Amino acid sequence: MIKKALVLSALLAFSAVPAQADPRQDILDQLAVEASAADANFSGFSAARGEKLFRTKFGTGKPATPSCTSCHTESPRNVGETRAGKAIDPVAVSVNPSRFTDPAKVAKWFRRNCKSVIGRECTALEKGDYITFMMTQ
Ligand code: HEC
Repeated sequence: MIKKALVLSALLAFSAVPAQADPRQDILDQLAVEASAADANFSGFSAARGEKLFRTKFGTGKPATPSCTSCHTESPRNVGETRAGKAIDPVAVSVNPSRFTDPAKVAKWFRRNCKSVIGRECTALEKGDYITFMMTQ
């Protein structure tokens, strides 16, 4: 009887911890592959570089949006605002755990926002750094 219960609880413990689906990590892993293809010296993403990207006033994109903070505000934990005044949910992962979990959404908005702010697409390194920073926020 006890043995049976032990086996059962062991089975339950295993089924409760499946090979965890972690779509954000999958996105980061893919970006890491691209970043190392672009630079053989790639040695991981950096939250500090991601924060710098988030706060830098580039001045090379659209004049109305010099930086990511133009819409996402100075704090990733804040509700942001589009140019048209529409609310943007916080981008900090701690506040908004669904952030950076949908590859199509991540790709679309990096493409669009990096062009608006920097005037070019972001590199895989920049994208990975940015997500890594948001995971610390
Ligand atoms: C013109 C306003 C604006 C600026 C400037 C802006 N963003 Fe955003 N961003 C948005 C909007 C709108 C969304 C989509 C709505 C949402 O996700 O809540 C978004 C979403 C995103 C997403 C998708 C997040 C997810 O959940 O997958 C990423 C990535 C992103 N932005 C990166 C950036 C980066 C990097 C910069 C600076 C280079 C930047 N954004 C600057 C408005 C902006």
